[in-house]
Amino acid sequence: MNLTTKDELLSRFLKADNEPLSGQQLADEFGISRTAIWKHLQTLQDEGYTFETIKKKGYLLTSKPDRVDPARISSYLTTTRLGHHVHYYDEVTSTQTIAHELVRNGAEDGTVVVAETQTAGKGRMARPWESTKGKGIWMTIIIRPNILPHQAPQFTLIAAVAVVNAIRSLYESIQPEIKWPNDILLNGKKCTGILTEMIAEMDGVQALLIGIGINVNQELEDFPDELKNIATSLSIEANNQLDRAELIAKILHYLEKYSDIYLDHGFEPIKTLWEEFSGTIGKKIKATTLREVVEGTAIGITEDGVLEVRIDDGEIKRIYSADIEI
Ligand code: BTN
Repeated sequence: MNLTTKDELLSRFLKADNEPLSGQQLADEFGISRTAIWKHLQTLQDEGYTFETIKKKGYLLTSKPDRVDPARISSYLTTTRLGHHVHYYDEVTSTQTIAHELVRNGAEDGTVVVAETQTAGKGRMARPWESTKGKGIWMTIIIRPNILPHQAPQFTLIAAVAVVNAIRSLYESIQPEIKWPNDILLNGKKCTGILTEMIAEMDGVQALLIGIGINVNQELEDFPDELKNIATSLSIEANNQLDRAELIAKILHYLEKYSDIYLDHGFEPIKTLWEEFSGTIGKKIKATTLREVVEGTAIGITEDGVLEVRIDDGEIKRIYSADIEI
């Protein structure tokens, strides 16, 4: 992890599990003076962390602000590649834009950009994406898999499966479903969108930018009126405030796992999981594409993540890009 000394120190406190840490021991461990330790703690206090001084024992971390900073993510991280370089911002235009810049500057595989809010969050089909400050996960993961450009869309499906599994494994009461191609719904309302962008030449992919937006801790009144009937958050469904850093680390865990499975064994195991988590397959749907409206039963996805719909006369239509109503 590329943590600064201040973040390393925070990480040490987060892992200390409510035990005070001695200033002298920390100074020895980090190879800096006790005054330097104290200064870092002051900076952390300015960021909203609070520490108490316990006589003869040292400093105790007593409260944490609700932020998704790198030390918080690192304290939950179980991956070997993803999330070891985290670029954290209070506010950005879009984490996708920052990720493009980072790729141009040679960002490593697994680099993550995460922000508390976005002023120009991007959705699919050039739609705006609402990113309420401090309430959601607004992040882009840069990966550099050795694949051909036509394989890139499969990573959107890998990401969807990873997010669903992360949510399921952390919050048992929530039952997310995937709506083709990449929305995640809770009780029919959208809580997650995924936007994958690619930087590629004809013969290979330089980088994929997997943008994931998750409504985590919003209350209903946090959503603008036009979204109130169609959007929801994990916390509305779970009736609980959730730890965003823990969820980020879990998503990175599953994204790494499923990417490896895909690169070793191909798309078939991912397709099986995707269809298992899908709320679209087997349902009557209406797909509005740029050219036509297709009504029929969604019967599955192809190797390329294309949706197959059986229309009433038995013909099977392939849907590459559309808005779906179920
Ligand atoms: C969609 O469903 O339309 C996709 C939404 C993707 C939103 C995420 S939030 C993080 C990343 N940065 C962006 O500007 N967009 C993606």
